Amino acid sequence: MNGVSGRMGYRQHLVRSILAIREQGGVLLADGETRVQVEPILVGRSEKKLADLAAKHGIEHYTTDLDEALADDRWQIYADFLVTKARAVAIKKAIAAGKAIYTEKPTAESFEEALELARLADEAGIKNGVVHDKLYLPGLQKLKRLIDSGFFGRILSVRGEFGYWVFEGDWQPAQRPSWNYRSEDGGGIIVDMFPHWNYVLENLFGRVESVYAKAVTEIPERVDERGEAYPATADDAAYAIFELEGGVVAQLNSSWTTRVNRDELVEFQVDGTHGSAVVGLFGCKIQPRNATPKPVWNPDLADDHDYAGDWIESPGNREFENGFKTQWEEFIRHVVEDAPNEFDFLAGARGVLLAEQGLASSREGRRIELPVVTLGSDLSTADVAADVATTEAPAFAGAR
Ligand SMILES: NC(=O)c1ccc[n+]([C@@H]2O[C@H](COP(=O)([O-])OP(=O)(O)OC[C@H]3O[C@@H](n4cnc5c(N)ncnc54)[C@H](O)[C@@H]3O)[C@@H](O)[C@H]2O)c1
Repeated sequence: MNGVSGRMGYRQHLVRSILAIREQGGVLLADGETRVQVEPILVGRSEKKLADLAAKHGIEHYTTDLDEALADDRWQIYADFLVTKARAVAIKKAIAAGKAIYTEKPTAESFEEALELARLADEAGIKNGVVHDKLYLPGLQKLKRLIDSGFFGRILSVRGEFGYWVFEGDWQPAQRPSWNYRSEDGGGIIVDMFPHWNYVLENLFGRVESVYAKAVTEIPERVDERGEAYPATADDAAYAIFELEGGVVAQLNSSWTTRVNRDELVEFQVDGTHGSAVVGLFGCKIQPRNATPKPVWNPDLADDHDYAGDWIESPGNREFENGFKTQWEEFIRHVVEDAPNEFDFLAGARGVLLAEQGLASSREGRRIELPVVTLGSDLSTADVAADVATTEAPAFAGAR
């Protein structure tokens, strides 16, 4: 487990996933009886941090030597939660060592590199997986159920609001690492969120066929973990429209510079001919066509209708576990007994492409169509950029 001292590596992957799996006696296999136990080795740069974590959680193995761990046959899966910038190099080493690989998103900093990882993994014949955690959220699982039940009729549109205020770091410490706000360090809200939006949209509604995005840097200077001011070079808000296969239009705002006036930090409204739903991380409210009120626009009269009261809470009807843990269990079953896994490096590369083209769209001030990505795609960043360059585009300052 590489990068286990980080925010995601520690909380979601080590504590909430691997240690929780170990605690329950391992991952249950398809026969419903056999369990395969997990044994982690913590990998990182600081021996002291690793020793502290190992002692705190009763973990036997840790090392600062990634190469040595990769060369050791006892460790079958390489897991990567490093800062994005450091990921591709480490993953290439793990591919060369023949390990199965499970990684955080984005898989790489450029589409070209993300596709290269997918190809190398395929050529090496190793199992590979990328975190798709948002799909496992209770709210999105309930949404999937609504879609599968035909609740919406024809789905027309998706409107999503993601965001909250991330403190600048001066008078209150920021609640995200400072590298998130420096593009030279792999930061930016598009790079962070569009990989999520890609797998959410393609798995629930249809392949993303085009993107138009406007990225902005609303807070130009922030204060880092050491209390030092730094220029924020990355986008901290992005306003985007995605056209999906089948005609659904998705409009998603992503922002670290907005104050929350919603039930949850992310919310999607899905409108269909037969019904609508509003889902968050946990909640899911529905309004079927036959319970839809008939609003009449009248600017002369204050409207006292309780629109929020028109919605019905959709029940969970089952327990939802931590999504990171559930996906880890699926990936381990994929490695151990060849259970299916669609969320591989190629899926990861599609997410990176959407981020890359979202940024290009913002720079160029234009909508960009996205090709179908396959392992054999003859698509380098340069090719897509060349395509952009051949089209007349208004001069556009991009991120401000
Ligand atoms: N799935 C999600 O919802 C989600 C949410 C947040 C972040 N992420 C992703 O998880 C990854 C980690 O993000 P985080 O917020 O935990 O970051 P973090 O800064 O808290 O942790 C990063 C880890 O990488 C290590 N690291 C930093 N620079 C390194 C280098 N040059 N070489 C080797 N190791 C290095 C750090 O020591 C730390 O262990 C990112 O790729 C990010 O995009 C995913």
